[in-house]
Amino acid sequence: MSGAEMSDVKDLAVKAGRDISGAWVSAIAYMGDQLGLFRKLAEAPNNGEGRGVTSAELSKSLQLNERYVREWLHAMVAAEYIECELVDSYVDRGEGTQEGKRKFFMTGAQRAVFAADESPFAMNGYFEFTLGSFRSIPEVMRCFRDGGGVPFSALGPDVSHGIHRMHVPLFVHQMPSWFANHPSLHDKMTRGIRFLDIGVGSGLSTIELARRYPRTTFVGLDPDAVSIERARKAAPPHLTNLDFVQSTIEGLPSHPQQVFFHGRHSFDAAFCFDVVHDLKDPVAALSTIRSLLKPDGELLWSEPAGSVDPVENRSTKRRTRQALSILHCMTVSMAEGGEGLGTLIGKERAERLAREASFSTFQLVHDISSEDGQYFYRLLP
Ligand SMILES: C[S@@+](CC[C@H](N)C(=O)[O-])C[C@H]1O[C@@H](n2cnc3c(N)ncnc32)[C@H](O)[C@@H]1O
Repeated sequence: MSGAEMSDVKDLAVKAGRDISGAWVSAIAYMGDQLGLFRKLAEAPNNGEGRGVTSAELSKSLQLNERYVREWLHAMVAAEYIECELVDSYVDRGEGTQEGKRKFFMTGAQRAVFAADESPFAMNGYFEFTLGSFRSIPEVMRCFRDGGGVPFSALGPDVSHGIHRMHVPLFVHQMPSWFANHPSLHDKMTRGIRFLDIGVGSGLSTIELARRYPRTTFVGLDPDAVSIERARKAAPPHLTNLDFVQSTIEGLPSHPQQVFFHGRHSFDAAFCFDVVHDLKDPVAALSTIRSLLKPDGELLWSEPAGSVDPVENRSTKRRTRQALSILHCMTVSMAEGGEGLGTLIGKERAERLAREASFSTFQLVHDISSEDGQYFYRLLP
C-alpha cells in the first residue's frame, strides 16, 4: 500500500470512529433526556462559588442510583455536553480507587441544546427519534430478506414524539418566516381563508399557524391515532379556528365527518411538511390535494433538502437523512406496498411527481439547501 493509500485508510478509520462515538454518545444522551437528568442538572447554578451539583445530589433529587448517574455524568463531560470541576482534594472511595469529588453543571449553550425543548437549538428530540428508530432494526433487517416494511404505527411512540420535538424549533421559530416570505399566501391567510395542513403528526404546525392567523380556519389531518390524540390535547381551548381529523389525505374526500370537507375545491391553501416522500402513492396523494384546492388555491409543499444522487449527500445532515430513510421514510411506504421513495427525493423528482399529479405550476420558492434545511415548493392546481 502506498503512503497516500495508507493515509486514506487511516482517515477513513478515524471517520468511522467518529461515527461510532456519535452513536454511543447519542444512546447515553437519550437516557439522560428520558430520565430527566439534563433538565434537573440545568437547574443547578452554573456560576459563582456554589455552582454545580454532585452526583449524589443529582441522583437523590431524581431518586436514581448514584453509581449509574455518576457514570452518565462522566460520559456527558467527556462528550462536552456538560461541564464539571473538582471541588475537593482526592477522596479515597475504597478498594484502592482515588477519585476527586466533582460538581457538575451546564453552560448556557449546553442548556439551550440539551435542556430546553422550546429553544431554537434543541436537540433531544433527535436522540429520541434516533434511539426510538433503532428499535426497528431487527424488523427492518427482516424486510431486507423478505421485502415489505414497518408501518409508521409500529415504529413506537418515541418515533412520533421524537419527530414532534425535533420540529418544535422549526415550527415555532422558523415557520413564521416561511409564510412571511410568501406574501400572497400570507396576505390571504391574514384576511381569512380555509387551510388544510396535511400529515401534521402532533399538530404543532397547525396550532402555530392557527395562533398566527386567527381569521383563517385550519384543518389538520393525520392517519396516526396516537399523533392526532396528542394534537387534540395540545390545542389550546381558546383556539377555535382549528380542527384535527384522523384520516389519510387520500381518505379525506370520503371521510364521514363532512364538517371537515365541503366537497371538491374545499380549501384555499394547503401545507404539507415532510410527508409526501413517506407515502404509499405520492402521486395519488398530490392528486387528491389538487382536487381539494380551489382553482385559485395553492399548495406549499416542503421536502428535506437532498439529492437522489447519494454522492451529493455527503454533508452531515444529508448523510443522516440518507441513512434514516431505511429505518423510517422508505420502510413506512414499503409497509403499505408503496414504492418507498426514501427521504431524499430531490428537486427533479418532486417536480415530476407534481406534474404527474397534474399540477399546472411547480415553483421552488424557498431554497435553503445550502444550510441542508428544507426545499419549499409552490404548486398551483
Ligand atoms: C415524518 S412525519 C411528519 C409530521 C409533521 N408534518 C412534522 O413535520 O412534524 C410524517 C407524517 O405523515 C403522516 N402520514 C402518513 N401517511 C399519510 C397519508 N396517507 N396522508 C396524510 N398523512 C400521512 C404520518 O402519520 C406522520 O405523522
